Amino acid sequence: MTKLLLTLHVLAAIVAIGPVTVAASMFPPAARTAQEGRLNTVRLLHRICRVYSGIGLAVPLFGFATAAAMGVLGDAWLITSITLTAVAAGILVAFVLPRQDEILEQLAADQAVERSGTVQLAMFTGIFNLLWATVTVLMIVRPGSTTGA
Ligand code: HEM
Repeated sequence: MTKLLLTLHVLAAIVAIGPVTVAASMFPPAARTAQEGRLNTVRLLHRICRVYSGIGLAVPLFGFATAAAMGVLGDAWLITSITLTAVAAGILVAFVLPRQDEILEQLAADQAVERSGTVQLAMFTGIFNLLWATVTVLMIVRPGSTTGA
């Protein structure tokens, strides 16, 4: 059972977090070069980010189930990972997605998009990516854990 849950957890991370990472990273430069009437790419990138963020909820869901099955919910490495995952999700929901929305609206209304806006979005996206990459390292290294390799 644990193996099945862990497989689903890792699969969800690959299938959901991967597309968000790529699409969110491509969004700021795509928005910078978007021209009138050529918004489809930027819209699609935003849609991928929004839809796959939702699917990404499966990652902590299966993560908690795996942790409960393994009896490691109280481990320091896991509590740290859960905190970092929550911060990453918070940055995505509170900053990355709303700012993408704002930029899309400006582009759709033919308004000039400030460079500082896309730079700031790129910064939040970078922090999000760094956080979940750190969680992945923690999941594999599991510092202080006495179970497994
Ligand atoms: C609430 C958040 C999370 C919880 C509770 C959680 C829980 C777990 C647990 C219990 C394991 C099994 C570790 C072991 O084999 O001893 C695991 C493995 C793993 N997790 Fe998570 N996880 C979370 C978030 C994430 C995130 C955000 C990612 C990446 C995007 C991730 C990627 C992985 C990977 C790649 C493994 C396999 C590591 C290995 O077996 O070597 N997890 N997770």
